[in-house]
Amino acid sequence: MLQAFKNLQWKLVVIFSLLILISVQLIGVTFLNSLQKFYSDDFINSLRSQANLLSSPMTQVLEENKSLTETKKETDKFLKQLLYLNTKNGTTTTVEIEILDDQGYVLSSSTENSKNIGKKNLRAQNATGKLDSTFIRRDRATGKDYQIYIKQLENTNQQRIGTIYIEASLDPIYAKIRRIGELLFRSSSVTLVATAILIILLSRTITTPLKEITQQATAMAAGDFNQQVAVKSDDEIGRLARAFNYLAAHLRRALSQNEEEREKLETVLANMSDGVLATDHKGNIIVKNSWVEKMIGSEIKLGDRLKDVLPMEDNIVFPLDHVHEEYIELHPNDPNSFMMIKATFTPIKRGEKELVGLIAVLSDVTEEEKLDRQRKDFVANVSHELRTPLTTIKSYLEALKDGAIHQPDIASHFLNVADTEAERMARLISDLLQLSRLDARESYFDKQPITIEHLLQPVYERFSMTCKQKDIALRLHIDDGLPMVVVDRDKMDQVLDNIVSNAVKYTPASGSITIKAIQSDSNMVQISIADTGLGIPKQDISRLFERFYRVDKARSRTLGGTGLGLSIAQEIVHSHNGEIWIESEYEQGTTVFFTLPTRSEANGTDQ
Ligand SMILES: Nc1ncnc2c1ncn2[C@@H]1O[C@H](COP(=O)(O)OP(=O)(O)OP(=O)(O)O)[C@@H](O)[C@H]1O
Ligand SMILES: [Mg+2]
Repeated sequence: MLQAFKNLQWKLVVIFSLLILISVQLIGVTFLNSLQKFYSDDFINSLRSQANLLSSPMTQVLEENKSLTETKKETDKFLKQLLYLNTKNGTTTTVEIEILDDQGYVLSSSTENSKNIGKKNLRAQNATGKLDSTFIRRDRATGKDYQIYIKQLENTNQQRIGTIYIEASLDPIYAKIRRIGELLFRSSSVTLVATAILIILLSRTITTPLKEITQQATAMAAGDFNQQVAVKSDDEIGRLARAFNYLAAHLRRALSQNEEEREKLETVLANMSDGVLATDHKGNIIVKNSWVEKMIGSEIKLGDRLKDVLPMEDNIVFPLDHVHEEYIELHPNDPNSFMMIKATFTPIKRGEKELVGLIAVLSDVTEEEKLDRQRKDFVANVSHELRTPLTTIKSYLEALKDGAIHQPDIASHFLNVADTEAERMARLISDLLQLSRLDARESYFDKQPITIEHLLQPVYERFSMTCKQKDIALRLHIDDGLPMVVVDRDKMDQVLDNIVSNAVKYTPASGSITIKAIQSDSNMVQISIADTGLGIPKQDISRLFERFYRVDKARSRTLGGTGLGLSIAQEIVHSHNGEIWIESEYEQGTTVFFTLPTRSEANGTDQ
């Protein structure tokens, strides 16, 4: 029953049936009431008209004041006449008429051999005072109802001389009303059943499309937007079905657009060269791209807290309400290498004020940071390198001023030192100038084809004397049939001088230095300068081409080095489209390699 009430169709059936039942009941009760009143009024009227018919002859008889028996005879006669008339007219025979005298004793009765004759009619006695009165009596023994009509008979002096008492059974009337009631009940039952059937049919036309729409909505909630509700009518339900189909189509379009937008966004995010993270207002990650994961070196799950993912220094308070910038140093794979990230956190606002989260854009600024650090180191190095000789010169000059100038031996020694230091400064400055020109690509390269012999033989000769003095064996080996290389002769001399002088500087007596030229590939000649000197520790090899980098600063400086030679050599070799690298074994020896383009490769171009 309860289940049925959850169903619209049955709700309608029950509600409408109850409505019809109540209205039929109301109408039936009112109708039967008025019918009963009509019938009883009509009945009383018929009794009244019989009494009226009797009243004048009876008054006459009673006024005559005859003896009791005579009066009785007269009244009996009239009653019989009336009964005869009634039977003739087919009027009811269930009527009992009694004529009473002025004392209320029954003179005669329409019922033959009535036991009431000669007895006092107490019911009529009680109704005295009014000319006529009616009431209904219920017989205690049978439970039947009787309509009573009492009419007083008066003489001209308005004295009561008798009474007409009529009593008629109400059974026939009740039977009639009962029959009509039954008829009403039967017809209303039929109406009720017919209405219920009609309502079932009608409600079905409403509930069937509603059921379909419900099914469709459930399918839509599960992501299926392709089904349509059948439109069967043009009424409100039909319009609802049509609107629903329209809604489904619209949603389908909107969703596919959404999907497209999402894919676009994902492609943009995936192809960005910056890392992107977005969080909700509490700082939980809701969007990420693969770049961030690469930068951080670990997987990020949506829902992770931003603070746990990025090692930030500043404490961000969520929701963030202003743009915040921070540099974050990461060590993704190896603790010795670093990665510098510039993170910009921008609040996301909905409408004017509501803060719904933040977007973090992470840019890799490691190169910039490295350059910045190099620049700072460079400035510090330059200042240091210039200050050292200057301090020396200044202290010697002061010593001369303080009297050393008057001691010719010491004075000339001091002046020599000052001169050497000044020369060192001049060389440093000219090296720096050359590097700065190379950096700015302002150096002019006069590239000409030249044979390897012409390039290397003079170097060999320049250094053979020094090597002999230091007891170092200097060798030169050039492969046969090497093509010509296209180089700026002066600059190449500078490169070779620096590399060979390094080898000489860092090779102790009885060592050897070998200058060698071979064909490395079809377009390049490879020149190597190998020594059997001190060698270079592994961790320093990669940094040798950095400006001012020296393995052992104190010793290098005593040997006259500033640490710029290899940087200049690298710039020059690169300007010739060549490569330069160093292989070294600590305490075994070092080999510096570089390649130079042959004529066909360089194509005679000047830079
Ligand atoms: N053949 C080598 N053997 C051992 N160490 C070397 C050798 N060549 C270079 N080095 C190391 O590399 C460092 C850098 O060399 P580079 O030529 O750039 O500077 P430098 O020789 O010290 O000074 P500069 O050449 O400017 O006078 C040197 O200080 C030295 O420590
Ligand atoms: Mg050098």
